Amino acid sequence: MKTTIKKDCFAKVNLSLDVLGRREDGYHNLEMIMQTVSLKDILTVSVDTDAGETVVTVECNNSSVPQNDDNLAAKSAKLFLEKAGQKAAVKIQIEKNIPMGAGLGGGSSDAAGVLTALNEIYEFPLKKEELVDVAAGIGSDVPFFIYGGTMLAEDTGTKLSPVLSVKEMTILIAKPMFPVSTPHVYKSLRLSHETVHPDTKNVIAALEIGDLKKLSENAGNVLETVTAAEHKEIDEYKNIMLQSGAAYALMSGSGPSVFGVFENEDEVLGAYKTLSNLTEEVYITKAV
Ligand code: C5P
Repeated sequence: MKTTIKKDCFAKVNLSLDVLGRREDGYHNLEMIMQTVSLKDILTVSVDTDAGETVVTVECNNSSVPQNDDNLAAKSAKLFLEKAGQKAAVKIQIEKNIPMGAGLGGGSSDAAGVLTALNEIYEFPLKKEELVDVAAGIGSDVPFFIYGGTMLAEDTGTKLSPVLSVKEMTILIAKPMFPVSTPHVYKSLRLSHETVHPDTKNVIAALEIGDLKKLSENAGNVLETVTAAEHKEIDEYKNIMLQSGAAYALMSGSGPSVFGVFENEDEVLGAYKTLSNLTEEVYITKAV
């Protein structure tokens, strides 16, 4: 049997990101509000079940995406087949639009897309919770992308609960022209009594009633203490978005992407124009 499926794999921003503390295993306990946005990679997953043994290949329109076992999408396909007790030749084609090393979860979203595509092709051998378990073994952000939407992510990011978000949001994303390493940012993070933490409960309350002012007063990203101290672009981009009329602006994940939430289309276009003079990677997106 040969089957092909296409999947849209959306990027995310962290509407808020709190780090509660370092764990004994080196990871960190988090409270994040994650939101998928309309910027997306497009995956084509083809399966040939007559192959007899498992072979996974990855092709991508961007040559800097690893096309070997380091690729999270390839790893996901192998783990899925193992878990489902199947053998197959799997070809994954990735149309890459989400910038990499950006704090936008592109690699994690593609990995989740492979898991859901294969589960569909094999007619759902894994229940959603089992798929989420496999996802957690691939990376902390991967389980979120099995669901998408607006979610509270706790523990290492893998404990998820849906959050009601009533407001339509236009989200402008700008990525400076350099990547950031997530392990480096977490390793460099020093929490102290002076660390300013976001108020996640109030962020959730603000989203539930669509109050962007309340959202801006309570959201934050603790990882900015590392990335914004190392790269002046983070505050520079945030200020441009705020001066252009964003309700609020923050860094996403470990950066370096900065996003702004806008209510007014003219204001978002103004910010888009200004930021386009500074970087090639600027995107007007919607929360999805
Ligand atoms: O889980 P994932 O491989 O995506 O995480 C990448 C890196 O981010 C980890 O190696 C770790 O340094 C850091 N991390 C962390 N605490 C988390 C999630 C990620 O320290 N909850």
